[in-house]
Amino acid sequence: MKSPGSSETVREAAPKALVLGGATGLLGQALTRTLTQAGWHVETLGRADGNITDIAFLTNRLAQSGPDVVFNAAAWTQVEEAEAQPEQARLLNCTLPDALARTLKSLGHGHLVHFSTDFVFSGQKNVAWTEQDTPKPISVYGSTKLAGEQAVLEILAERTCVVRTAWLFGPGRKNFVQTILDKAKHAESVQVVFDQTGSPTYSLDLAHWSVALAEKRATGLWHAVNGGQATWAELASEAITLSRCRCRVVPVSSEQWPQKAKRPAWSVLDTSKLAGFLNHAPRPWPQALRDYLYSILEADNND
Ligand SMILES: NC(=O)c1ccc[n+]([C@@H]2O[C@H](COP(=O)([O-])OP(=O)(O)OC[C@H]3O[C@@H](n4cnc5c(N)ncnc54)[C@H](OP(=O)(O)O)[C@@H]3O)[C@@H](O)[C@H]2O)c1
Repeated sequence: MKSPGSSETVREAAPKALVLGGATGLLGQALTRTLTQAGWHVETLGRADGNITDIAFLTNRLAQSGPDVVFNAAAWTQVEEAEAQPEQARLLNCTLPDALARTLKSLGHGHLVHFSTDFVFSGQKNVAWTEQDTPKPISVYGSTKLAGEQAVLEILAERTCVVRTAWLFGPGRKNFVQTILDKAKHAESVQVVFDQTGSPTYSLDLAHWSVALAEKRATGLWHAVNGGQATWAELASEAITLSRCRCRVVPVSSEQWPQKAKRPAWSVLDTSKLAGFLNHAPRPWPQALRDYLYSILEADNND
Protein backbone atom coordinates (compact mmCIF):
# COMPACT_ATOMS: atom_id res chain seq x y z
CA MET A 1 0.00 0.00 0.00
CA LYS A 2 1.26 3.53 -0.81
CA SER A 3 0.71 6.40 1.63
CA PRO A 4 -1.22 9.33 0.06
CA GLY A 5 1.00 11.92 -1.64
CA SER A 6 4.18 9.85 -1.37
CA SER A 7 5.94 7.10 -3.23
CA GLU A 8 6.93 5.45 0.04
CA THR A 9 5.54 1.96 0.50
CA VAL A 10 3.65 1.58 3.76
CA ARG A 11 3.26 -1.91 5.14
CA GLU A 12 -0.27 -2.63 6.37
CA ALA A 13 -0.24 -3.62 10.03
CA ALA A 14 -0.89 -7.31 10.59
CA PRO A 15 -4.31 -7.94 12.17
CA LYS A 16 -4.13 -8.84 15.86
CA ALA A 17 -5.65 -12.04 17.22
CA LEU A 18 -6.05 -13.11 20.82
CA VAL A 19 -6.62 -16.86 21.10
CA LEU A 20 -8.05 -18.15 24.38
CA GLY A 21 -6.74 -21.67 24.84
CA GLY A 22 -4.25 -20.98 22.04
CA ALA A 23 -1.22 -22.48 23.80
CA THR A 24 -2.67 -25.77 25.01
CA GLY A 25 -6.10 -26.53 23.50
CA LEU A 26 -6.63 -28.88 20.57
CA LEU A 27 -8.38 -26.25 18.48
CA GLY A 28 -6.53 -23.35 20.14
CA GLN A 29 -3.16 -24.65 18.97
CA ALA A 30 -4.48 -25.22 15.44
CA LEU A 31 -5.78 -21.63 15.38
CA THR A 32 -2.49 -20.21 16.67
CA ARG A 33 -0.57 -22.10 13.99
CA THR A 34 -2.95 -21.18 11.16
CA LEU A 35 -3.19 -17.50 12.13
CA THR A 36 0.59 -17.20 12.42
CA GLN A 37 1.04 -18.80 8.98
CA ALA A 38 -1.55 -16.37 7.58
CA GLY A 39 0.49 -13.40 8.84
CA TRP A 40 -1.61 -12.41 11.86
CA HIS A 41 -0.02 -11.08 15.01
CA VAL A 42 -1.07 -13.72 17.54
CA GLU A 43 -1.26 -13.64 21.33
CA THR A 44 -2.55 -16.53 23.39
CA LEU A 45 -4.33 -16.44 26.72
CA GLY A 46 -4.75 -19.39 29.05
CA ARG A 47 -4.34 -20.87 32.49
CA ALA A 48 -0.60 -20.11 32.60
CA ASP A 49 -1.26 -16.37 32.20
CA GLY A 50 -3.73 -16.02 35.07
CA ASN A 51 -7.32 -16.81 35.94
CA ILE A 52 -9.21 -16.28 32.69
CA THR A 53 -12.52 -16.76 34.48
CA ASP A 54 -11.77 -13.72 36.64
CA ILE A 55 -13.70 -11.02 34.80
CA ALA A 56 -11.42 -8.18 35.98
CA PHE A 57 -8.32 -10.04 34.77
CA LEU A 58 -9.97 -10.83 31.45
CA THR A 59 -11.16 -7.27 30.91
CA ASN A 60 -7.71 -5.83 31.67
CA ARG A 61 -6.01 -8.25 29.36
CA LEU A 62 -8.42 -7.50 26.50
CA ALA A 63 -8.02 -3.77 26.98
CA GLN A 64 -4.20 -4.13 26.96
CA SER A 65 -4.08 -6.34 23.87
CA GLY A 66 -6.70 -4.52 21.82
CA PRO A 67 -7.19 -7.48 19.48
CA ASP A 68 -9.00 -7.15 16.16
CA VAL A 69 -10.38 -10.65 16.67
CA VAL A 70 -10.73 -12.75 19.81
CA PHE A 71 -10.96 -16.50 19.15
CA ASN A 72 -12.49 -18.23 22.15
CA ALA A 73 -11.25 -21.83 22.06
CA ALA A 74 -11.21 -22.17 25.85
CA ALA A 75 -13.96 -24.37 27.19
CA TRP A 76 -14.91 -27.07 29.64
CA THR A 77 -14.83 -30.00 27.20
CA GLN A 78 -14.99 -32.94 29.61
CA VAL A 79 -18.49 -34.11 28.79
CA GLU A 80 -18.62 -36.78 31.51
CA GLU A 81 -17.19 -34.60 34.29
CA ALA A 82 -19.62 -31.77 33.45
CA GLU A 83 -22.48 -33.91 34.82
CA ALA A 84 -20.84 -33.91 38.27
CA GLN A 85 -19.46 -30.35 38.10
CA PRO A 86 -22.11 -28.30 36.29
CA GLU A 87 -21.01 -25.03 37.92
CA GLN A 88 -17.45 -25.39 36.61
CA ALA A 89 -18.74 -26.25 33.15
CA ARG A 90 -21.08 -23.25 33.23
CA LEU A 91 -18.26 -20.93 34.34
CA LEU A 92 -16.10 -21.83 31.33
CA ASN A 93 -18.81 -22.43 28.74
CA CYS A 94 -21.22 -19.64 29.58
CA THR A 95 -19.95 -17.07 32.10
CA LEU A 96 -16.61 -16.66 30.31
CA PRO A 97 -18.00 -16.08 26.78
CA ASP A 98 -20.67 -13.79 28.25
CA ALA A 99 -17.90 -11.70 29.88
CA LEU A 100 -15.86 -11.68 26.66
CA ALA A 101 -18.78 -10.34 24.66
CA ARG A 102 -19.60 -7.68 27.27
CA THR A 103 -15.98 -6.52 27.44
CA LEU A 104 -15.63 -6.29 23.66
CA LYS A 105 -18.90 -4.38 23.55
CA SER A 106 -17.68 -1.83 26.10
CA LEU A 107 -14.29 -1.52 24.37
CA GLY A 108 -16.12 -0.71 21.13
CA HIS A 109 -13.61 -2.74 19.12
CA GLY A 110 -12.87 -6.38 18.38
CA HIS A 111 -14.69 -9.21 16.67
CA LEU A 112 -15.48 -12.44 18.54
CA VAL A 113 -15.19 -15.92 17.06
CA HIS A 114 -16.67 -18.31 19.60
CA PHE A 115 -16.82 -22.10 19.30
CA SER A 116 -19.71 -24.39 20.12
CA THR A 117 -20.75 -27.96 19.59
CA ASP A 118 -23.02 -30.49 17.86
CA PHE A 119 -23.99 -31.55 21.41
CA VAL A 120 -26.45 -28.63 21.54
CA PHE A 121 -28.76 -30.95 19.54
CA SER A 122 -30.92 -33.74 20.92
CA GLY A 123 -29.88 -36.29 18.31
CA GLN A 124 -33.48 -37.14 17.45
CA LYS A 125 -33.23 -36.73 13.68
CA ASN A 126 -31.68 -38.54 10.73
CA VAL A 127 -30.76 -35.75 8.35
CA ALA A 128 -27.97 -33.27 9.03
CA TRP A 129 -28.74 -30.46 11.50
CA THR A 130 -28.80 -26.96 10.00
CA GLU A 131 -28.22 -23.60 11.69
CA GLN A 132 -32.01 -23.10 11.61
CA ASP A 133 -32.79 -26.24 13.63
CA THR A 134 -33.84 -25.80 17.22
CA PRO A 135 -31.22 -26.99 19.70
CA LYS A 136 -32.29 -29.17 22.60
CA PRO A 137 -29.29 -30.39 24.58
CA ILE A 138 -29.45 -33.63 26.56
CA SER A 139 -26.31 -33.16 28.70
CA VAL A 140 -24.87 -30.55 31.07
CA TYR A 141 -22.03 -29.92 28.61
CA GLY A 142 -24.52 -29.33 25.75
CA SER A 143 -26.72 -27.06 27.90
CA THR A 144 -23.82 -24.90 29.07
CA LYS A 145 -22.47 -24.61 25.52
CA LEU A 146 -25.90 -23.58 24.25
CA ALA A 147 -26.19 -20.96 26.99
CA GLY A 148 -22.75 -19.63 25.96
CA GLU A 149 -23.59 -19.29 22.29
CA GLN A 150 -26.93 -17.63 23.08
CA ALA A 151 -25.22 -15.15 25.42
CA VAL A 152 -22.58 -13.99 22.93
CA LEU A 153 -25.08 -13.71 20.09
CA GLU A 154 -27.41 -11.65 22.26
CA ILE A 155 -24.77 -9.32 23.71
CA LEU A 156 -22.59 -8.70 20.64
CA ALA A 157 -24.58 -9.91 17.61
CA GLU A 158 -23.07 -7.32 15.26
CA ARG A 159 -19.50 -8.54 15.93
CA THR A 160 -19.89 -12.22 16.83
CA CYS A 161 -19.48 -15.40 14.86
CA VAL A 162 -20.42 -18.68 16.58
CA VAL A 163 -18.86 -21.73 14.96
CA ARG A 164 -20.39 -25.08 15.88
CA THR A 165 -18.08 -28.00 15.31
CA ALA A 166 -17.84 -31.68 16.27
CA TRP A 167 -15.72 -34.76 16.94
CA LEU A 168 -12.32 -33.05 16.67
CA PHE A 169 -9.05 -34.81 15.95
CA GLY A 170 -5.67 -33.20 15.30
CA PRO A 171 -2.18 -32.58 16.65
CA GLY A 172 -1.16 -31.17 20.01
CA ARG A 173 -3.59 -32.73 22.47
CA LYS A 174 -5.15 -36.06 23.30
CA ASN A 175 -8.20 -36.80 21.15
CA PHE A 176 -10.37 -39.80 20.25
CA VAL A 177 -8.28 -40.89 17.24
CA GLN A 178 -5.03 -40.74 19.17
CA THR A 179 -6.55 -42.60 22.12
CA ILE A 180 -7.79 -45.39 19.83
CA LEU A 181 -4.43 -45.69 18.05
CA ASP A 182 -2.57 -45.82 21.37
CA LYS A 183 -4.85 -48.67 22.49
CA ALA A 184 -4.65 -50.43 19.11
CA LYS A 185 -0.85 -50.67 19.33
CA HIS A 186 -1.09 -52.95 22.38
CA ALA A 187 -4.46 -54.71 22.02
CA GLU A 188 -5.94 -57.31 19.69
CA SER A 189 -9.31 -55.58 19.77
CA VAL A 190 -10.96 -52.39 20.99
CA GLN A 191 -14.62 -51.87 21.81
CA VAL A 192 -16.15 -48.77 20.23
CA VAL A 193 -19.71 -47.44 20.19
CA PHE A 194 -21.59 -47.95 16.90
CA ASP A 195 -24.91 -46.23 17.58
CA GLN A 196 -23.83 -42.59 17.69
CA THR A 197 -23.30 -40.87 14.34
CA GLY A 198 -21.56 -37.52 13.87
CA SER A 199 -19.16 -35.39 11.84
CA PRO A 200 -15.47 -36.14 12.47
CA THR A 201 -13.44 -32.97 11.94
CA TYR A 202 -9.75 -32.09 11.59
CA SER A 203 -8.75 -29.24 13.90
CA LEU A 204 -6.48 -27.70 11.25
CA ASP A 205 -9.26 -27.64 8.65
CA LEU A 206 -11.55 -26.03 11.21
CA ALA A 207 -8.87 -23.45 11.99
CA HIS A 208 -8.59 -22.52 8.30
CA TRP A 209 -12.36 -22.06 7.90
CA SER A 210 -12.51 -20.07 11.14
CA VAL A 211 -9.72 -17.72 10.04
CA ALA A 212 -11.50 -17.25 6.69
CA LEU A 213 -14.70 -16.34 8.56
CA ALA A 214 -12.75 -13.97 10.83
CA GLU A 215 -11.04 -12.26 7.89
CA LYS A 216 -14.47 -11.36 6.48
CA ARG A 217 -15.74 -10.49 9.98
CA ALA A 218 -18.59 -12.97 9.47
CA THR A 219 -21.38 -12.89 12.05
CA GLY A 220 -24.10 -15.29 13.20
CA LEU A 221 -24.20 -19.03 13.50
CA TRP A 222 -22.09 -21.39 11.34
CA HIS A 223 -21.76 -25.18 11.22
CA ALA A 224 -18.15 -26.12 10.43
CA VAL A 225 -17.22 -29.80 10.11
CA ASN A 226 -15.57 -32.04 7.53
CA GLY A 227 -17.79 -33.73 4.93
CA GLY A 228 -19.43 -37.11 5.40
CA GLN A 229 -20.55 -38.80 8.57
CA ALA A 230 -19.40 -41.67 10.76
CA THR A 231 -20.09 -43.61 13.88
CA TRP A 232 -17.35 -43.71 16.52
CA ALA A 233 -16.72 -47.35 15.49
CA GLU A 234 -16.31 -46.33 11.84
CA LEU A 235 -13.93 -43.52 12.75
CA ALA A 236 -11.88 -45.90 14.87
CA SER A 237 -11.82 -48.54 12.09
CA GLU A 238 -10.66 -46.07 9.49
CA ALA A 239 -7.90 -44.72 11.75
CA ILE A 240 -6.72 -48.24 12.62
CA THR A 241 -6.80 -49.40 8.99
CA LEU A 242 -4.86 -46.36 7.77
CA SER A 243 -2.29 -46.90 10.53
CA ARG A 244 -1.90 -50.56 9.48
CA CYS A 245 -2.46 -51.77 13.05
CA ARG A 246 -3.61 -55.37 13.41
CA CYS A 247 -6.32 -54.49 15.90
CA ARG A 248 -10.01 -55.33 15.47
CA VAL A 249 -12.81 -52.88 16.24
CA VAL A 250 -15.63 -54.54 18.16
CA PRO A 251 -18.76 -52.43 17.80
CA VAL A 252 -20.75 -52.03 21.03
CA SER A 253 -23.99 -50.20 21.76
CA SER A 254 -24.21 -47.13 23.99
CA GLU A 255 -26.07 -49.32 26.48
CA GLN A 256 -23.09 -51.67 26.66
CA TRP A 257 -20.83 -48.65 27.26
CA PRO A 258 -22.64 -46.79 30.03
CA GLN A 259 -21.70 -43.17 30.55
CA LYS A 260 -23.01 -40.46 32.88
CA ALA A 261 -23.69 -37.93 30.13
CA LYS A 262 -26.20 -38.69 27.38
CA ARG A 263 -24.85 -38.24 23.86
CA PRO A 264 -26.94 -37.40 20.78
CA ALA A 265 -27.52 -40.51 18.65
CA TRP A 266 -27.36 -38.39 15.49
CA SER A 267 -25.43 -35.11 15.48
CA VAL A 268 -24.24 -34.75 11.86
CA LEU A 269 -24.01 -31.05 10.99
CA ASP A 270 -25.10 -29.55 7.67
CA THR A 271 -22.38 -27.31 6.18
CA SER A 272 -24.25 -25.82 3.20
CA LYS A 273 -23.90 -22.31 4.63
CA LEU A 274 -20.14 -22.67 5.15
CA ALA A 275 -19.73 -24.26 1.70
CA GLY A 276 -21.46 -21.22 0.15
CA PHE A 277 -19.08 -18.91 2.02
CA LEU A 278 -15.93 -20.88 1.09
CA ASN A 279 -17.12 -21.58 -2.47
CA HIS A 280 -16.43 -25.26 -1.91
CA ALA A 281 -17.67 -27.98 0.40
CA PRO A 282 -15.44 -28.92 3.34
CA ARG A 283 -13.38 -31.95 2.31
CA PRO A 284 -14.51 -35.42 3.48
CA TRP A 285 -13.31 -36.49 6.93
CA PRO A 286 -11.40 -39.62 5.72
CA GLN A 287 -9.21 -37.41 3.54
CA ALA A 288 -8.52 -35.08 6.47
CA LEU A 289 -7.86 -38.06 8.74
CA ARG A 290 -5.19 -39.30 6.30
CA ASP A 291 -3.42 -35.92 6.51
CA TYR A 292 -3.49 -36.07 10.29
CA LEU A 293 -2.13 -39.63 10.39
CA TYR A 294 0.65 -38.79 7.89
CA SER A 295 1.65 -35.87 10.10
CA ILE A 296 1.89 -38.24 13.10
CA LEU A 297 4.02 -40.65 11.06
CA GLU A 298 6.31 -37.84 9.93
CA ALA A 299 6.70 -36.59 13.50
CA ASP A 300 7.52 -40.16 14.69
CA ASN A 301 10.10 -40.57 11.90
CA ASN A 302 11.76 -37.29 12.85
CA ASP A 303 12.08 -38.31 16.51
N1 LIG B 1 -12.98 -31.62 21.00
C1 LIG B 1 -14.11 -31.84 20.35
O1 LIG B 1 -14.37 -32.95 19.87
C2 LIG B 1 -15.14 -30.74 20.21
C3 LIG B 1 -16.37 -31.07 19.62
C4 LIG B 1 -17.32 -30.07 19.47
C5 LIG B 1 -17.05 -28.78 19.87
N2 LIG B 1 -15.87 -28.49 20.46
C6 LIG B 1 -15.65 -27.12 20.91
O2 LIG B 1 -14.46 -26.62 20.33
C7 LIG B 1 -13.82 -25.72 21.23
C8 LIG B 1 -12.38 -26.14 21.45
O3 LIG B 1 -12.37 -27.47 21.99
P1 LIG B 1 -11.03 -28.27 22.18
O4 LIG B 1 -11.32 -29.68 21.88
O5 LIG B 1 -9.92 -27.58 21.48
O6 LIG B 1 -10.84 -28.16 23.75
P2 LIG B 1 -9.59 -28.61 24.62
O7 LIG B 1 -8.55 -29.25 23.80
O8 LIG B 1 -10.16 -29.36 25.78
O9 LIG B 1 -9.02 -27.22 25.12
C9 LIG B 1 -9.73 -26.44 26.02
C10 LIG B 1 -8.92 -25.23 26.36
O10 LIG B 1 -9.60 -24.53 27.40
C11 LIG B 1 -8.70 -24.32 28.45
N3 LIG B 1 -9.34 -24.32 29.75
C12 LIG B 1 -10.23 -25.19 30.24
N4 LIG B 1 -10.53 -24.88 31.52
C13 LIG B 1 -9.79 -23.78 31.82
C14 LIG B 1 -9.67 -22.96 32.97
N5 LIG B 1 -10.37 -23.20 34.08
N6 LIG B 1 -8.82 -21.91 32.92
C15 LIG B 1 -8.12 -21.66 31.82
N7 LIG B 1 -8.19 -22.38 30.69
C16 LIG B 1 -9.03 -23.43 30.70
C17 LIG B 1 -7.71 -25.47 28.37
O11 LIG B 1 -6.57 -25.13 29.10
P3 LIG B 1 -5.63 -26.27 29.80
O12 LIG B 1 -4.92 -26.93 28.68
O13 LIG B 1 -4.76 -25.49 30.70
O14 LIG B 1 -6.58 -27.19 30.51
C18 LIG B 1 -7.52 -25.58 26.87
O15 LIG B 1 -6.60 -24.64 26.42
C19 LIG B 1 -14.67 -25.74 22.51
O16 LIG B 1 -15.55 -24.65 22.47
C20 LIG B 1 -15.45 -27.02 22.41
O17 LIG B 1 -16.67 -26.94 23.11
C21 LIG B 1 -14.89 -29.44 20.63
